[in-house]
Amino acid sequence: MSDINALKTELSTEIEAATDLAALDEVRVSVLGKKGRITALMKTLGRMDPEERKTTGQALNVLKDEIAALIKRQESALKKQAMDVRLASETLDISLPPRPERKGHVHPISQTIEEMVTIFASMGFSVAEGPDIEDDWHNFTALNFPPGHPAREMQDTFFLPDDESEQGERAKKLLRTHTSSVQIRNMTEIAKTGAPPIKTICFGRTYRSDYDMTHTPMFHQMECLFIDKDVTMAHLKGCLTDFVRTFFALDDLPVRFRPSFFPFVEPGAEVDIGYVKNKDGSIKLGKAPEGQEQKWMEILGSGMVHPNVLKNCGIDPEEYQGFAFGCGIERIAMLKYGIPDLRTFFDCDVRWLAHYGFSSIDRPNAATGQ
Ligand code: DAH
Repeated sequence: MSDINALKTELSTEIEAATDLAALDEVRVSVLGKKGRITALMKTLGRMDPEERKTTGQALNVLKDEIAALIKRQESALKKQAMDVRLASETLDISLPPRPERKGHVHPISQTIEEMVTIFASMGFSVAEGPDIEDDWHNFTALNFPPGHPAREMQDTFFLPDDESEQGERAKKLLRTHTSSVQIRNMTEIAKTGAPPIKTICFGRTYRSDYDMTHTPMFHQMECLFIDKDVTMAHLKGCLTDFVRTFFALDDLPVRFRPSFFPFVEPGAEVDIGYVKNKDGSIKLGKAPEGQEQKWMEILGSGMVHPNVLKNCGIDPEEYQGFAFGCGIERIAMLKYGIPDLRTFFDCDVRWLAHYGFSSIDRPNAATGQ
């Protein structure tokens, strides 16, 4: 009996000394496992006389239960301890304010394009597209730029290396200098498969070899084209006036048409909008109040599509006329949103974009900018 008591003390000490679950399991196997110490003692019972077997058997069973209970208790103590350690090291401070998420912004160019699409869609225009890499025909010749004419030098063109498979001036590849080339593609396509009316707008990248505060080698233009029977300069003036007043959300924005030359229109006009200069040098679009000077700035080129251009596209100028205009997107975005330097549009600076860009969820209404 005293042996059993001594064993109990010894085993209890071993169990308490097990400081992790793996060690405890080793103790369990060494005591209660198939070859464990208590199991071995149980096996000796068979050799005992009945009286001894009875008392020793009982005592061993009690010991076995007590040891099993001790192991269980130690096991839950160790598990709790492990959990406490985890809880202490993995605490979450839910009172901390969340780190601000970096949200993307819509670029002012994309925003402006969307606003223009909305305005022109409400007037029944659809969106046309054309390639950035153009040929001489679509960018110049079909638009009535005569060969060698100084008008070609109006736009500092990026020419591409000659393409051996396509010979001749007409096929010479270049980066389009304006979106007017899309007019040609548009009209040629329609003339092949049907007839006007054509009522399209087009947006896209354009390229000129130029770089300063108001010029970048790549910039964006929008182009508007309306061809139908009996289209007059009055339609051009009405459409453009409506567009700029809606775009700048100024009902009485002064709009002025000034005669100008573009080879692809006749007559051609540049369009100016009115503004006043504030005392601090900044400008404010709109009508000048009494006593203040009305100033004008040019925002786009326009005109009645030249008969030669219509002919070049397979449209009979005796039957159809139309107007076209083109404008720089950055320029009007700068004016509307007070962005001072054109070059910053393409610096890819996220701080600039966070400041001048638009939240993708609560953007201004596309048509009014409000
Ligand atoms: N393509 C001209 C430019 O880039 C702008 C322009 C002027 C477009 C008159 C037109 C137009 O459609 O009629 O300077």
